[in-house]
Amino acid sequence: MGNKTLSGRHIVLGITGGIAAYKSVSLLRLLVKAGAEVQVVITPAGKEFITPVTLSALSGRPVVSEFFTANTGEWHSHVDLGLWADLMVIAPATASTIAKMANGVADNMLVTTYLSAKEHVMVAPAMDLDMFAHPSTTRNLRQLEADGVEIIAPAAGELASHLVGKGRMEEPENIFARIEAFFNSREDLKGVRVAITAGPTYEKIDPVRFIGNYSSGKMGFAIAEECARRGADVSLICGPCSLDVKHPSIKRIDVESAVEMLEAAKREFADAEVGIFSAAVADYRPAKSESSKIKREGTSGMTLELVKNPDIAAEIGASKKPGTILVGFALETDNEKSNAAHKLEKKNLDMVVLNSLKDKGAGFRCDTNKISIVLRDGEILDFPLKSKREVAADIIDGIVELRSGRRRVKDV
Ligand code: PMT
Repeated sequence: MGNKTLSGRHIVLGITGGIAAYKSVSLLRLLVKAGAEVQVVITPAGKEFITPVTLSALSGRPVVSEFFTANTGEWHSHVDLGLWADLMVIAPATASTIAKMANGVADNMLVTTYLSAKEHVMVAPAMDLDMFAHPSTTRNLRQLEADGVEIIAPAAGELASHLVGKGRMEEPENIFARIEAFFNSREDLKGVRVAITAGPTYEKIDPVRFIGNYSSGKMGFAIAEECARRGADVSLICGPCSLDVKHPSIKRIDVESAVEMLEAAKREFADAEVGIFSAAVADYRPAKSESSKIKREGTSGMTLELVKNPDIAAEIGASKKPGTILVGFALETDNEKSNAAHKLEKKNLDMVVLNSLKDKGAGFRCDTNKISIVLRDGEILDFPLKSKREVAADIIDGIVELRSGRRRVKDV
Protein backbone atom coordinates (compact mmCIF):
# COMPACT_ATOMS: atom_id res chain seq x y z
CA MET A 1 0.00 0.00 0.00
CA GLY A 2 3.01 2.31 -0.04
CA ASN A 3 4.72 4.37 2.61
CA LYS A 4 3.18 7.32 4.43
CA THR A 5 5.55 9.89 3.02
CA LEU A 6 5.31 9.07 -0.67
CA SER A 7 1.84 7.61 -1.04
CA GLY A 8 -0.13 9.53 -3.67
CA ARG A 9 2.67 12.00 -4.43
CA HIS A 10 2.91 13.11 -8.04
CA ILE A 11 6.49 12.82 -9.27
CA VAL A 12 7.79 13.62 -12.75
CA LEU A 13 10.89 11.48 -13.37
CA GLY A 14 12.99 12.99 -16.14
CA ILE A 15 15.47 10.70 -17.88
CA THR A 16 18.15 11.94 -20.27
CA GLY A 17 20.64 10.22 -22.58
CA GLY A 18 23.34 8.74 -20.38
CA ILE A 19 24.43 5.21 -19.52
CA ALA A 20 23.15 5.78 -15.95
CA ALA A 21 19.60 5.70 -17.39
CA TYR A 22 19.54 1.99 -16.49
CA LYS A 23 19.65 3.03 -12.81
CA SER A 24 16.49 5.13 -13.30
CA VAL A 25 14.57 1.88 -13.62
CA SER A 26 15.48 0.98 -10.01
CA LEU A 27 14.59 4.48 -8.85
CA LEU A 28 11.25 4.24 -10.64
CA ARG A 29 10.53 0.88 -8.97
CA LEU A 30 11.34 2.27 -5.52
CA LEU A 31 9.04 5.25 -6.05
CA VAL A 32 6.15 3.18 -7.39
CA LYS A 33 6.52 0.63 -4.59
CA ALA A 34 6.33 3.47 -2.08
CA GLY A 35 2.95 4.47 -3.54
CA ALA A 36 4.03 7.52 -5.58
CA GLU A 37 2.39 8.26 -8.92
CA VAL A 38 5.26 8.64 -11.36
CA GLN A 39 5.13 10.18 -14.82
CA VAL A 40 8.28 9.48 -16.82
CA VAL A 41 9.42 12.14 -19.29
CA ILE A 42 12.37 10.99 -21.37
CA THR A 43 14.50 12.84 -23.92
CA PRO A 44 14.98 11.35 -27.42
CA ALA A 45 18.59 10.51 -26.45
CA GLY A 46 17.36 8.84 -23.25
CA LYS A 47 15.38 6.38 -25.37
CA GLU A 48 18.65 5.15 -26.88
CA PHE A 49 19.60 3.85 -23.43
CA ILE A 50 16.34 2.53 -21.99
CA THR A 51 13.09 1.63 -23.68
CA PRO A 52 9.84 3.48 -22.96
CA VAL A 53 8.10 0.07 -22.83
CA THR A 54 10.01 -0.90 -19.67
CA LEU A 55 9.33 2.48 -18.09
CA SER A 56 5.62 2.57 -18.89
CA ALA A 57 5.17 -1.02 -17.69
CA LEU A 58 6.76 -0.13 -14.34
CA SER A 59 5.07 3.24 -13.88
CA GLY A 60 1.68 2.14 -15.20
CA ARG A 61 1.54 5.30 -17.37
CA PRO A 62 2.52 5.95 -20.98
CA VAL A 63 5.96 7.54 -21.13
CA VAL A 64 6.04 11.08 -22.51
CA SER A 65 8.86 12.07 -24.83
CA GLU A 66 7.64 14.28 -27.65
CA PHE A 67 5.18 17.20 -27.71
CA PHE A 68 2.91 15.08 -29.93
CA THR A 69 2.31 11.34 -30.29
CA ALA A 70 3.23 10.85 -33.96
CA ASN A 71 0.45 8.48 -35.08
CA THR A 72 -2.47 9.98 -33.11
CA GLY A 73 -1.43 13.62 -33.09
CA GLU A 74 -2.18 13.70 -29.33
CA TRP A 75 -0.70 16.82 -27.67
CA HIS A 76 1.17 16.39 -24.38
CA SER A 77 0.88 19.48 -22.26
CA HIS A 78 4.12 20.35 -20.47
CA VAL A 79 2.19 23.04 -18.56
CA ASP A 80 -0.29 20.48 -17.18
CA LEU A 81 2.58 18.16 -16.25
CA GLY A 82 4.41 20.99 -14.51
CA LEU A 83 1.27 21.80 -12.50
CA TRP A 84 0.56 18.11 -11.74
CA ALA A 85 3.98 17.43 -10.26
CA ASP A 86 4.64 17.71 -6.51
CA LEU A 87 8.29 17.13 -7.40
CA MET A 88 10.37 16.79 -10.54
CA VAL A 89 13.50 14.62 -10.42
CA ILE A 90 15.88 14.48 -13.39
CA ALA A 91 18.07 11.40 -13.07
CA PRO A 92 20.35 11.01 -14.87
CA ALA A 93 20.90 14.60 -16.00
CA THR A 94 23.50 14.97 -18.75
CA ALA A 95 25.76 18.01 -19.16
CA SER A 96 23.67 19.03 -22.14
CA THR A 97 20.34 18.94 -20.26
CA ILE A 98 21.89 20.80 -17.31
CA ALA A 99 23.16 23.49 -19.72
CA LYS A 100 19.72 23.82 -21.32
CA MET A 101 18.00 24.08 -17.94
CA ALA A 102 20.48 26.71 -16.73
CA ASN A 103 19.86 28.80 -19.83
CA GLY A 104 16.13 28.32 -20.31
CA VAL A 105 16.49 26.46 -23.61
CA ALA A 106 13.16 24.73 -24.26
CA ASP A 107 13.80 22.46 -27.21
CA ASN A 108 12.37 19.20 -25.89
CA MET A 109 9.52 17.96 -23.72
CA LEU A 110 11.73 17.42 -20.67
CA VAL A 111 13.27 20.88 -20.42
CA THR A 112 9.94 22.49 -21.32
CA THR A 113 8.30 20.59 -18.45
CA TYR A 114 11.12 21.82 -16.20
CA LEU A 115 10.35 25.42 -17.17
CA SER A 116 6.67 24.82 -16.30
CA ALA A 117 7.32 23.02 -12.99
CA LYS A 118 5.76 24.88 -10.07
CA GLU A 119 7.20 22.70 -7.31
CA HIS A 120 10.64 21.56 -6.23
CA VAL A 121 13.13 20.18 -8.78
CA MET A 122 16.03 17.78 -8.11
CA VAL A 123 18.82 17.01 -10.55
CA ALA A 124 21.18 14.03 -10.35
CA PRO A 125 24.05 14.71 -12.79
CA ALA A 126 25.80 11.80 -14.49
CA MET A 127 28.71 12.22 -16.91
CA ASP A 128 32.38 11.57 -17.40
CA LEU A 129 34.75 13.13 -14.85
CA ASP A 130 36.23 15.70 -17.23
CA MET A 131 32.80 16.81 -18.35
CA PHE A 132 31.68 17.14 -14.74
CA ALA A 133 34.82 19.08 -13.81
CA HIS A 134 34.52 21.41 -16.83
CA PRO A 135 34.02 25.06 -15.84
CA SER A 136 30.88 25.30 -17.97
CA THR A 137 29.24 22.40 -16.09
CA THR A 138 30.26 23.94 -12.75
CA ARG A 139 28.85 27.28 -13.89
CA ASN A 140 25.57 25.74 -15.06
CA LEU A 141 25.09 23.73 -11.86
CA ARG A 142 25.74 26.87 -9.81
CA GLN A 143 23.11 28.66 -11.87
CA LEU A 144 20.62 25.86 -11.28
CA GLU A 145 21.29 26.01 -7.54
CA ALA A 146 20.72 29.76 -7.62
CA ASP A 147 17.41 29.04 -9.38
CA GLY A 148 16.38 26.84 -6.44
CA VAL A 149 17.12 23.44 -7.99
CA GLU A 150 18.46 20.79 -5.57
CA ILE A 151 21.59 19.12 -6.94
CA ILE A 152 22.21 15.51 -5.94
CA ALA A 153 25.97 15.46 -6.41
CA PRO A 154 27.42 12.54 -8.30
CA ALA A 155 29.57 10.00 -6.50
CA ALA A 156 33.18 9.14 -7.27
CA GLY A 157 34.03 5.73 -8.68
CA GLU A 158 34.63 3.87 -11.90
CA LEU A 159 32.82 5.47 -14.81
CA ALA A 160 31.48 3.95 -18.02
CA SER A 161 34.66 5.16 -19.75
CA HIS A 162 36.65 3.05 -17.20
CA LEU A 163 38.17 6.28 -15.90
CA VAL A 164 37.90 6.71 -12.17
CA GLY A 165 36.59 9.95 -10.66
CA LYS A 166 33.50 12.02 -9.86
CA GLY A 167 30.59 11.74 -12.29
CA ARG A 168 28.70 8.52 -11.43
CA MET A 169 25.04 9.18 -10.84
CA GLU A 170 24.16 8.78 -7.16
CA GLU A 171 22.72 5.34 -6.35
CA PRO A 172 18.91 5.05 -6.73
CA GLU A 173 18.46 4.21 -3.00
CA ASN A 174 20.23 7.46 -2.04
CA ILE A 175 18.20 9.52 -4.50
CA PHE A 176 15.07 7.87 -3.10
CA ALA A 177 16.16 8.84 0.44
CA ARG A 178 16.60 12.47 -0.68
CA ILE A 179 13.09 12.42 -2.17
CA GLU A 180 11.65 11.02 1.08
CA ALA A 181 13.56 13.62 3.10
CA PHE A 182 12.17 16.37 0.89
CA PHE A 183 8.57 15.29 1.41
CA ASN A 184 9.14 14.70 5.14
CA SER A 185 10.37 18.27 5.53
CA ARG A 186 7.06 19.52 4.08
CA GLU A 187 4.89 17.73 6.62
CA ASP A 188 3.31 20.79 8.18
CA LEU A 189 0.50 18.72 9.76
CA LYS A 190 2.78 15.99 11.13
CA GLY A 191 1.00 14.05 13.89
CA VAL A 192 -2.03 16.37 13.83
CA ARG A 193 -5.40 14.62 14.27
CA VAL A 194 -7.83 15.69 11.53
CA ALA A 195 -11.46 14.59 11.21
CA ILE A 196 -13.38 15.17 7.98
CA THR A 197 -16.95 14.58 6.80
CA ALA A 198 -17.40 13.95 3.07
CA GLY A 199 -19.87 12.89 0.42
CA PRO A 200 -23.67 12.86 0.54
CA THR A 201 -26.04 11.33 3.06
CA TYR A 202 -28.87 9.00 2.03
CA GLU A 203 -32.10 9.29 3.99
CA LYS A 204 -34.10 6.12 3.63
CA ILE A 205 -37.72 6.16 2.41
CA ASP A 206 -38.05 2.39 1.99
CA PRO A 207 -35.63 -0.46 1.11
CA VAL A 208 -35.21 0.81 -2.48
CA ARG A 209 -35.56 4.60 -2.26
CA PHE A 210 -33.85 7.44 -0.46
CA ILE A 211 -33.49 11.22 -0.37
CA GLY A 212 -29.95 12.14 -1.37
CA ASN A 213 -27.92 14.70 -3.29
CA TYR A 214 -25.30 14.94 -6.04
CA SER A 215 -22.17 14.95 -3.85
CA SER A 216 -19.52 12.52 -5.12
CA GLY A 217 -17.16 12.89 -2.16
CA LYS A 218 -14.35 14.15 -4.46
CA MET A 219 -13.77 17.39 -2.54
CA GLY A 220 -13.68 15.69 0.88
CA PHE A 221 -11.45 12.86 -0.32
CA ALA A 222 -9.02 15.35 -1.90
CA ILE A 223 -8.81 17.18 1.45
CA ALA A 224 -8.25 13.90 3.32
CA GLU A 225 -5.45 12.85 0.95
CA GLU A 226 -3.77 16.26 1.17
CA CYS A 227 -3.94 16.27 4.99
CA ALA A 228 -2.46 12.76 5.08
CA ARG A 229 0.30 13.71 2.62
CA ARG A 230 1.24 16.53 4.97
CA GLY A 231 1.60 14.12 7.88
CA ALA A 232 -1.83 14.24 9.57
CA ASP A 233 -3.68 11.24 11.01
CA VAL A 234 -7.03 11.48 9.30
CA SER A 235 -10.49 10.13 10.09
CA LEU A 236 -12.69 10.39 7.01
CA ILE A 237 -16.38 9.91 7.70
CA CYS A 238 -18.05 9.47 4.36
CA GLY A 239 -21.54 9.02 3.10
CA PRO A 240 -22.19 6.63 0.20
CA CYS A 241 -19.63 7.24 -2.55
CA SER A 242 -17.58 5.10 -4.89
CA LEU A 243 -14.13 6.58 -4.22
CA ASP A 244 -11.16 4.75 -2.74
CA VAL A 245 -8.86 6.01 -0.03
CA LYS A 246 -5.21 5.83 -1.09
CA HIS A 247 -3.10 7.08 1.80
CA PRO A 248 -2.36 4.64 4.65
CA SER A 249 -2.85 7.38 7.29
CA ILE A 250 -6.54 7.77 6.44
CA LYS A 251 -9.05 5.85 8.54
CA ARG A 252 -12.28 5.59 6.56
CA ILE A 253 -15.63 5.33 8.33
CA ASP A 254 -18.57 4.61 6.03
CA VAL A 255 -22.00 5.84 7.01
CA GLU A 256 -25.29 6.27 5.21
CA SER A 257 -27.55 8.80 6.91
CA ALA A 258 -27.05 12.15 8.66
CA VAL A 259 -27.86 10.54 12.02
CA GLU A 260 -25.16 7.90 11.47
CA MET A 261 -22.73 10.61 10.33
CA LEU A 262 -23.39 12.59 13.51
CA GLU A 263 -22.74 9.54 15.71
CA ALA A 264 -19.41 8.87 13.94
CA ALA A 265 -18.51 12.57 14.07
CA LYS A 266 -19.07 12.75 17.84
CA ARG A 267 -16.51 9.95 18.23
CA GLU A 268 -13.97 11.03 15.61
CA PHE A 269 -14.06 14.80 16.20
CA ALA A 270 -13.71 14.40 20.00
CA ASP A 271 -9.90 14.52 20.01
CA ALA A 272 -9.36 16.11 16.59
CA GLU A 273 -7.28 19.27 16.46
CA VAL A 274 -8.72 20.13 13.04
CA GLY A 275 -12.27 19.33 11.90
CA ILE A 276 -13.49 19.84 8.34
CA PHE A 277 -17.15 19.53 7.31
CA SER A 278 -17.22 19.02 3.56
CA ALA A 279 -20.16 16.59 3.47
CA ALA A 280 -23.41 17.55 1.80
CA VAL A 281 -25.69 16.47 4.63
CA ALA A 282 -29.41 16.15 3.91
CA ASP A 283 -31.22 18.71 6.05
CA TYR A 284 -34.37 16.55 6.23
CA ARG A 285 -35.22 12.84 6.44
CA PRO A 286 -38.49 10.98 6.13
CA ALA A 287 -40.35 10.94 9.46
CA LYS A 288 -40.62 7.18 9.05
CA SER A 289 -38.91 4.74 6.70
CA GLU A 290 -40.94 1.76 5.49
CA SER A 291 -39.56 -1.76 5.96
CA SER A 292 -41.21 -2.97 2.70
CA LYS A 293 -41.18 -1.37 -0.74
CA ILE A 294 -43.93 1.22 -1.12
CA LYS A 295 -46.26 0.15 -3.99
CA ARG A 296 -47.79 2.56 -6.48
CA GLU A 297 -50.94 0.47 -7.03
CA GLY A 298 -54.05 1.76 -5.30
CA THR A 299 -52.67 5.28 -4.73
CA SER A 300 -53.21 8.50 -6.68
CA GLY A 301 -50.06 10.12 -5.22
CA MET A 302 -48.22 10.35 -1.94
CA THR A 303 -46.99 12.89 0.55
CA LEU A 304 -43.77 12.32 2.47
CA GLU A 305 -43.54 13.80 5.92
CA LEU A 306 -40.02 15.05 6.63
CA VAL A 307 -38.32 15.85 9.90
CA LYS A 308 -35.21 17.98 10.42
CA ASN A 309 -31.83 16.24 10.56
CA PRO A 310 -29.22 17.24 13.13
CA ASP A 311 -26.77 19.92 11.99
CA ILE A 312 -23.47 18.07 12.48
CA ALA A 313 -21.19 21.09 12.07
CA ALA A 314 -23.30 23.16 14.47
CA GLU A 315 -23.38 20.40 17.12
CA ILE A 316 -19.62 19.84 16.99
CA GLY A 317 -19.05 23.62 16.85
CA ALA A 318 -21.14 24.16 19.99
CA SER A 319 -18.73 22.06 22.07
CA LYS A 320 -15.56 23.21 20.35
CA LYS A 321 -12.42 23.09 22.53
CA PRO A 322 -10.07 26.09 22.60
CA GLY A 323 -7.31 25.73 20.03
CA THR A 324 -9.30 23.43 17.75
CA ILE A 325 -9.79 24.68 14.20
CA LEU A 326 -13.19 23.93 12.64
CA VAL A 327 -13.75 24.47 8.93
CA GLY A 328 -17.17 24.35 7.30
CA PHE A 329 -18.30 24.57 3.71
CA ALA A 330 -21.10 26.65 2.27
CA LEU A 331 -22.74 25.57 -0.94
CA GLU A 332 -24.78 28.50 -2.15
CA THR A 333 -26.77 29.73 -5.11
CA ASP A 334 -27.57 33.30 -3.93
CA ASN A 335 -26.17 35.91 -1.52
CA GLU A 336 -23.18 33.63 -1.29
CA LYS A 337 -20.74 35.63 0.84
CA SER A 338 -23.25 36.87 3.41
CA ASN A 339 -24.76 33.37 3.78
CA ALA A 340 -21.27 31.91 4.26
CA ALA A 341 -20.40 34.52 6.91
CA HIS A 342 -23.69 33.76 8.68
CA LYS A 343 -22.90 30.00 8.73
CA LEU A 344 -19.46 30.72 10.16
CA GLU A 345 -21.00 32.59 13.12
CA LYS A 346 -23.96 30.28 13.64
CA LYS A 347 -21.91 27.06 13.63
CA ASN A 348 -18.96 28.52 15.59
CA LEU A 349 -16.45 27.82 12.79
CA ASP A 350 -13.04 29.38 12.15
CA MET A 351 -13.23 29.27 8.40
CA VAL A 352 -15.91 28.66 5.77
CA VAL A 353 -15.08 27.45 2.28
CA LEU A 354 -17.65 28.91 -0.03
CA ASN A 355 -18.46 27.31 -3.38
CA SER A 356 -21.26 28.59 -5.56
CA LEU A 357 -23.33 26.53 -7.97
CA LYS A 358 -23.43 29.66 -10.15
CA ASP A 359 -19.74 29.13 -11.02
CA LYS A 360 -19.11 26.77 -13.94
CA GLY A 361 -16.86 23.88 -12.90
CA ALA A 362 -17.58 24.39 -9.17
CA GLY A 363 -19.42 22.27 -6.63
CA PHE A 364 -20.77 18.76 -7.10
CA ARG A 365 -19.17 15.88 -8.99
CA CYS A 366 -16.65 17.74 -11.19
CA ASP A 367 -12.88 17.47 -10.69
CA THR A 368 -12.54 21.23 -10.23
CA ASN A 369 -13.85 23.79 -7.79
CA LYS A 370 -13.84 27.56 -7.37
CA ILE A 371 -13.80 28.71 -3.78
CA SER A 372 -13.66 31.73 -1.52
CA ILE A 373 -12.35 31.34 2.01
CA VAL A 374 -14.30 33.35 4.57
CA LEU A 375 -12.45 34.04 7.83
CA ARG A 376 -13.55 35.10 11.31
CA ASP A 377 -11.94 38.53 11.05
CA GLY A 378 -14.14 39.26 8.02
CA GLU A 379 -11.44 38.75 5.43
CA ILE A 380 -12.53 36.89 2.28
CA LEU A 381 -9.94 35.28 0.00
CA ASP A 382 -11.09 34.54 -3.57
CA PHE A 383 -9.41 31.75 -5.56
CA PRO A 384 -9.64 30.96 -9.29
CA LEU A 385 -11.02 27.69 -10.68
CA LYS A 386 -8.57 24.88 -9.80
CA SER A 387 -8.47 21.10 -9.55
CA LYS A 388 -10.00 19.77 -6.32
CA ARG A 389 -6.53 18.56 -5.33
CA GLU A 390 -5.16 22.12 -5.63
CA VAL A 391 -8.21 23.53 -3.86
CA ALA A 392 -7.56 21.07 -1.02
CA ALA A 393 -3.97 22.34 -0.80
CA ASP A 394 -5.20 25.97 -0.61
CA ILE A 395 -7.62 25.06 2.19
CA ILE A 396 -4.91 23.22 4.14
CA ASP A 397 -2.50 26.15 3.65
CA GLY A 398 -5.16 28.36 5.25
CA ILE A 399 -5.61 25.94 8.15
CA VAL A 400 -1.84 25.70 8.73
CA GLU A 401 -1.69 29.50 8.78
CA LEU A 402 -4.52 29.67 11.33
CA ARG A 403 -2.80 27.05 13.51
CA SER A 404 0.49 28.94 13.39
CA GLY A 405 -1.26 32.02 14.78
CA ARG A 406 -0.23 34.14 11.84
CA ARG A 407 -3.93 34.89 11.49
CA ARG A 408 -5.91 35.70 14.58
CA VAL A 409 -8.43 32.96 15.37
CA LYS A 410 -11.15 34.11 17.71
CA ASP A 411 -12.17 31.46 20.25
CA VAL A 412 -15.85 31.94 20.87
O1 PMT B 1 -18.58 15.83 -3.11
P1 PMT B 1 -18.33 16.64 -4.35
O2 PMT B 1 -19.11 16.11 -5.55
O3 PMT B 1 -16.86 16.81 -4.64
O4 PMT B 1 -18.91 18.10 -4.09
C1 PMT B 1 -18.33 18.91 -3.12
C2 PMT B 1 -19.37 19.72 -2.35
C3 PMT B 1 -20.09 20.65 -3.29
C4 PMT B 1 -20.39 18.78 -1.68
C5 PMT B 1 -18.59 20.49 -1.23
O5 PMT B 1 -17.67 21.34 -1.85
C6 PMT B 1 -19.52 21.31 -0.36
O6 PMT B 1 -19.89 22.43 -0.63
N1 PMT B 1 -19.94 20.70 0.80
C7 PMT B 1 -20.93 21.26 1.73
C8 PMT B 1 -22.30 21.12 1.14
C9 PMT B 1 -23.38 21.65 2.08
O7 PMT B 1 -24.12 20.86 2.59
O8 PMT B 1 -23.35 22.93 2.30
P2 PMT B 1 -24.39 23.71 3.28
O9 PMT B 1 -24.17 25.15 2.94
O10 PMT B 1 -25.75 23.15 3.12
O11 PMT B 1 -23.88 23.38 4.72
C10 PMT B 1 -23.02 24.22 5.49
C11 PMT B 1 -22.06 23.42 6.34
O12 PMT B 1 -22.76 22.71 7.36
C12 PMT B 1 -21.28 22.39 5.57
O13 PMT B 1 -19.99 22.35 6.13
C13 PMT B 1 -22.03 21.08 5.84
O14 PMT B 1 -21.16 19.95 5.82
C14 PMT B 1 -22.54 21.32 7.24
N2 PMT B 1 -23.82 20.65 7.54
C15 PMT B 1 -24.93 21.02 6.86
C16 PMT B 1 -26.16 20.42 7.21
C17 PMT B 1 -26.20 19.46 8.24
N3 PMT B 1 -27.34 18.89 8.56
N4 PMT B 1 -25.06 19.11 8.86
C18 PMT B 1 -23.88 19.69 8.54
O15 PMT B 1 -22.84 19.36 9.11
